[in-house]
Amino acid sequence: MFRRNPRLLASISKLSSDLMCSHDVARSPMQSTTKFGIAMGNKGPGLSDFIKDLPRTRKDKIFPAISDTHAYISRAQLNGDGKKVLLVTFGCQMNVNDMEVVRGLLIQNGYIETKEEAEADAILLMTCSIRDGAEEKIWKRLKHLKRNQRRPRTVAVLGCMAERVKSTLLSTPGDLCQVVAGPDSYRDLPRLLALSQSGTKAMNVQLSFEETYADVTPVRVDTHTKTAFVSIMRGCDNMCTYCIVPFTRGRERSRPIDSILDEVKRLRDEGVKQITLLGQNVNSYRDSSSSSISFGVDSRMVDGFSTVYGQKSGGRSFATLLDHVSRVDDSMRIRFTSPHPKDFPNQVIELIKERKNICNQIHLPAQSGDDSVLDAMGRGYTRESYLTLVDNIKNAIPNVSLTSDFIAGFCGETEEAHQNTLSLMREVDYSFCFVFPYSMREGTRAHRKLVDDVPENVKMRRHEELASVFREISLRRNVSRLGKRELVLIEGRSKRGEKSMSGRTDGGIVVHIEEKEKKMETGDYVVVKITGGTSQTMSGEY
Ligand code: SAH
Ligand code: SF4
Ligand code: F3S
Repeated sequence: MFRRNPRLLASISKLSSDLMCSHDVARSPMQSTTKFGIAMGNKGPGLSDFIKDLPRTRKDKIFPAISDTHAYISRAQLNGDGKKVLLVTFGCQMNVNDMEVVRGLLIQNGYIETKEEAEADAILLMTCSIRDGAEEKIWKRLKHLKRNQRRPRTVAVLGCMAERVKSTLLSTPGDLCQVVAGPDSYRDLPRLLALSQSGTKAMNVQLSFEETYADVTPVRVDTHTKTAFVSIMRGCDNMCTYCIVPFTRGRERSRPIDSILDEVKRLRDEGVKQITLLGQNVNSYRDSSSSSISFGVDSRMVDGFSTVYGQKSGGRSFATLLDHVSRVDDSMRIRFTSPHPKDFPNQVIELIKERKNICNQIHLPAQSGDDSVLDAMGRGYTRESYLTLVDNIKNAIPNVSLTSDFIAGFCGETEEAHQNTLSLMREVDYSFCFVFPYSMREGTRAHRKLVDDVPENVKMRRHEELASVFREISLRRNVSRLGKRELVLIEGRSKRGEKSMSGRTDGGIVVHIEEKEKKMETGDYVVVKITGGTSQTMSGEY
């Protein structure tokens, strides 16, 4: 009966969370420790214990791990008091930006950042779960840290892997880590770290419907760089069948437009010259926190595209946000990543065309060029509708630079389907592609409903073929720029040597520029003559 009545479940869930919170105040540190020594807050039986017929994962959804967030700690213990933290980031740009939020929160709470592992009182790893290999890397690092440990310290796993692997990280033999914090619980870090310092393992992996860290000022690792990420939304509702992100980052929610604009203006005042707006699905951004000003008819789905969730409407859309952000300073470049092809109304294309400071680079992840694979992935478009969108974009912005993500060897992918992906790559003529071999993720729809049936060696061969076609296309594109002039924003010293700087073209291609008589500084715009190119980068003279 419970399983069939979502309203009843919601009210039980609320009742249970009220009960758990209400005895929070009276709990002693002793009471909050389980047999694993993990801070769990509530020792007695909860409502979930009386619903035995629910499978474990279902129970977790109804009774999320909120009980572990309420162990008692005094206000004074929340202060880091000059303790040193080493922050290590893995994964996507969202993680880079999340680490900036964590840095901001920890500095506010009296912690000091160190770059030296040996002197760190706490080491925080911001982790990724997108493919099995990403998690393998973290396990290896945890073991390495344990082997090299010379004095007591806390190791904390944050981010997507914390959310996915949860308490297994704490209970794995070897005492590899003592704190686990999911993407929506960074405000709780001072408490979790304090608990671990008093000898109790601590975890908070509760996902939120609202958290956007809108009021937290992110602190960049290097304030001398002239480029910055600004998070505009969190979570993802798309539920592509292969993808773990909706499970690790939770439901989609947008940060209010005013707080984004405040951050962009602050960055402009600090001399930042390029902003990248970040989110898992940036163009489904919708700020419903303020008045429902909409921009034209952008709540309508573009023909040929669909979504598994109801189309969002009302509030302020991505086009409105882009319009406002690009007006802050017309000498500040604006990029955004990642958009989803299904949320690409003409207003956004027109805006990119019209505003000189919105870069002519669009990341348009296709994932596959074959209709049956796209359908199995739940992407909400066909090859044809994707190509129509590409045509619309190219017609409006002739020099546009398109980039994409592709997955090789997804469930049921035939040789013909793979060839269709290769031909899509050639047809679109991307300037850059990220290609990944499919990695099955537990709990996703593909894991539950499809078979990971492409043999490993075939997957690897297809992956290599995708990579080699991409290299061939981008090499041709880059070489075709020889002798032309490009406006490059200098990002810093080039890896090519002392006398070289590097930066990006408007289309996002890295250019290495040899310094001759004229000096260049980070943050300068320079007109560069292209003198060489590989599949990944170009060289130029200034
Ligand atoms: N939200 C973004 C990016 C998400 S993750 C988007 O939709 O574009 C980045 C990329 O990782 C995806 O675009 C996809 O190509 C790849 N990816 C996601 N799950 C994967 C999996 N299980 N195996 C292999 N690649 C995967
Ligand atoms: Fe994953 Fe799809 Fe969401 Fe991207 S849009 S994060 S691929 S579910
Ligand atoms: Fe990885 Fe999470 Fe980003 S799974 S790709 S760190 S959103």
